[in-house]
Amino acid sequence: MNLFDTLTPAPPDAILGLTEAFKADERPEKINLGVGVYQDDQGRTPVMASVKAAEKVLLETESSKSYLSIGGAPDYKTHVQRLLLGEGHPALHAERVRTAHTPGGTGGLRVGAELLKQLRPDATVWLSDPTWANHRGIFTAAGFRVEVYPYYDAAHKGLNEAGMMTALDGVPADDIVLLHVCCHNPTGVDLTEAQWSAVGRLAADRRWTPFLDFAYQGLGVDLETDRRGLLALVDQVPELFVASSFSKNFGLYRERTGALSLMAATASAATAAFSHLEKTIRVLYSNPPAHGGLIVTTVLNDPALREQWEAEVATIRERIQSVRSALVVGLKERGVDRDFSFIESQKGMFSFSGLTDSQVAFLREQKGIYIVKGGRINVAGITSGNLDYLCDALAEALKPAG
Ligand code: LMR
Repeated sequence: MNLFDTLTPAPPDAILGLTEAFKADERPEKINLGVGVYQDDQGRTPVMASVKAAEKVLLETESSKSYLSIGGAPDYKTHVQRLLLGEGHPALHAERVRTAHTPGGTGGLRVGAELLKQLRPDATVWLSDPTWANHRGIFTAAGFRVEVYPYYDAAHKGLNEAGMMTALDGVPADDIVLLHVCCHNPTGVDLTEAQWSAVGRLAADRRWTPFLDFAYQGLGVDLETDRRGLLALVDQVPELFVASSFSKNFGLYRERTGALSLMAATASAATAAFSHLEKTIRVLYSNPPAHGGLIVTTVLNDPALREQWEAEVATIRERIQSVRSALVVGLKERGVDRDFSFIESQKGMFSFSGLTDSQVAFLREQKGIYIVKGGRINVAGITSGNLDYLCDALAEALKPAG
């Protein structure tokens, strides 16, 4: 029998599969609110001006396409660490942090998972309920058992603080807990500083290992405030992992530009751990793609480009915030009696709308509006051109039966 003859097609990816279906949809009024990709008010996902300027510099100055080292270029790693923790952070001074340039944040999660599997083969990985659809796949593919801890309180459209803290208090030592540093995907509900400190205390007391997913720095409040959850944990635990990404805050989606950083208790432990991480990377993809990392390094090395980039990140954030407000107003204007004001306090690209799966299916089938199952809306896909159509369709979907 042939190898592939018995196969039936795998189900489409919960998020990226939606984009493919959207592309194939011929209705001109269609709207893609699925994948977390930023769009401006014209519905474009532009290359940032600071990124274009850096690419021009690179076109002139890049002198080789030879391999990067397994962990990537030293300058890139330094910039990643400073963005994550802030320049001059004591953990950086103590050389307890090591960073590898990885193909996107997903690559960072996956190599981190692979290293953890070698170190803690029997651990369970705890994910927030709900979480980004790919987290489960990544940790399961690395061979882990996966459990969830309560996170979202659907009734109050906020954090289920008591449920989360009780569950994290009960996580066994040496297990791994995945936490979203900011702009929680899919809910947009983040922890306060005090809640982060409490999580850090639990991690330290219970001796589980935090694995932080930090894909939206700058899209929540600002670059500094968005890192405070990470800082709270770095202050309290000896070891942790951070997977970070420049897909959203540099708009480098297809350049696959991310990182895995690990923090160890001492510099020598960090050096040893990093050598094992390099071995893990070598057998997975050998070494990272260079272009996105060079762009980030070029922008962050140049004070004027850096300033321009920070302003561009602020523009993205502000547009998302204004779209949130416009959506709330638009629904109210259409007499939708459910209170949607929570959309304005959620952070980042996503809003957990509370739409049921059948409402999501109605919007896709009848209206050509693509939303991830579970009701996650990418608010950055809403424009002044599609807002009215969207609000009309949402009002219709939400209309009580009868
Ligand atoms: C998302 O959640 O939509 C993004 O992180 C893109 C992806 O890879 O799923």
